[in-house]
Amino acid sequence: MSDWKARTKLVHGGTRRSQYNEVSEAIFLTQGFVYDTAEQAEERFIKSGEDEFIYARYGNPTVAMFEERIAGLEGAEDAFATASGMAAVNGALMSMLKAGDHVVAARALFGSCLYILEDILRRYGVEVTLVDGTDLDQWRAAVREDTVAVFFESMSNPTLEVIDLVAVAEIAHAVGATVVVDNVFSTPVFSDAIAQGADVVIYSATKHIDGQGRALGGVILGTRDFIRGTVEPYMKHTGGSMSPFNAWIMLKGLETIDLRVRAQAASAEAIAKAFDGHEKLARMIYPGLKSHAQNTLVQSQLGGKGGTVVSLDLKGGQAAAFRFLNALEVAVISNNLGDAKSIATHPATTTHQRLPEDQKVSLGITPGLIRFSVGLEDAEDLIADISRALESA
Ligand SMILES: Cc1ncc(COP(=O)(O)O)c(C=O)c1O
Repeated sequence: MSDWKARTKLVHGGTRRSQYNEVSEAIFLTQGFVYDTAEQAEERFIKSGEDEFIYARYGNPTVAMFEERIAGLEGAEDAFATASGMAAVNGALMSMLKAGDHVVAARALFGSCLYILEDILRRYGVEVTLVDGTDLDQWRAAVREDTVAVFFESMSNPTLEVIDLVAVAEIAHAVGATVVVDNVFSTPVFSDAIAQGADVVIYSATKHIDGQGRALGGVILGTRDFIRGTVEPYMKHTGGSMSPFNAWIMLKGLETIDLRVRAQAASAEAIAKAFDGHEKLARMIYPGLKSHAQNTLVQSQLGGKGGTVVSLDLKGGQAAAFRFLNALEVAVISNNLGDAKSIATHPATTTHQRLPEDQKVSLGITPGLIRFSVGLEDAEDLIADISRALESA
């Protein structure tokens, strides 16, 4: 399997067949497993082997198929599937940190990630330093001998800043810190985060992995020692594991993710080019555009692909942004991303509402900003939809 190309791994990786030899992967919708003898039960609790399961909070065959498939794609030794993307962020950080540790994180983070860093970790005695993730001097100045982890979104939500993974990993590794990357916006299709220096990669599977808006999920990828020795004990005892049903959805989502994400990114690029410089826009943000501040980095880090989200900053502030949203006929107003349906979001009043005003300003989350997650509709229909909505704005 390791020599297979990505699309082959996404279709066949991790497959386990039952005694019926089914073609499509089975959903093992069971909380537990029957032991042949009391001795076998005892042994399994002491040390369960591969494909020996105990209880769905600890592991399950459908969940294991998903974990193995995504680990194969990412080039990670192992993976642990979680109930949501936030369970993955929380699980990765809480399982590795303790009071007195120091963490450096990029300040441009999804609101819930910021809550974990600024509220939860600090409450448990972890010191957190936030930096402008695009400024390597700030990373250099912030890391210390006692820095245990660095954390960042490789492409930030919703302003699409791209962080130099190779350079930050070098700075972090020089002091022995673990590099933890929330890779949602870069997507499993365009990113090669582990090869580029990430030690731990996290996805909200709710986004492109499902890709059809059905279920919540997340995954933590890393070395076998980290996943089974650090993450698994924390997750299995605190209850953030993925359900077998959701794992089946994510497993089937992986089969088509490469085709979906490439089509979505091609439409995103067409939209960005069509509206770049539009008179109603103060900014058109798309990392795939030559005008994006980190476009050179996008070439080396993401093969030139700018992802599936464009962010449009309307000149007329919140009133114009709301008129734009209310005029859309194809894209829906919601707050997920990576979905087959195009989704428009007003971050300042929804996903990033809880950020203090000054933080919103410093992150570029302006009242006119719309995050537009490009779906699988025909790009011409989306361009017509955005064009009409901009006229109404
Ligand atoms: C960058 C990023 N990380 C984590 C999450 C959390 O994922 P979930 O909603 O699956 O918990 C999100 C969700 O929007 C996100 O955008």
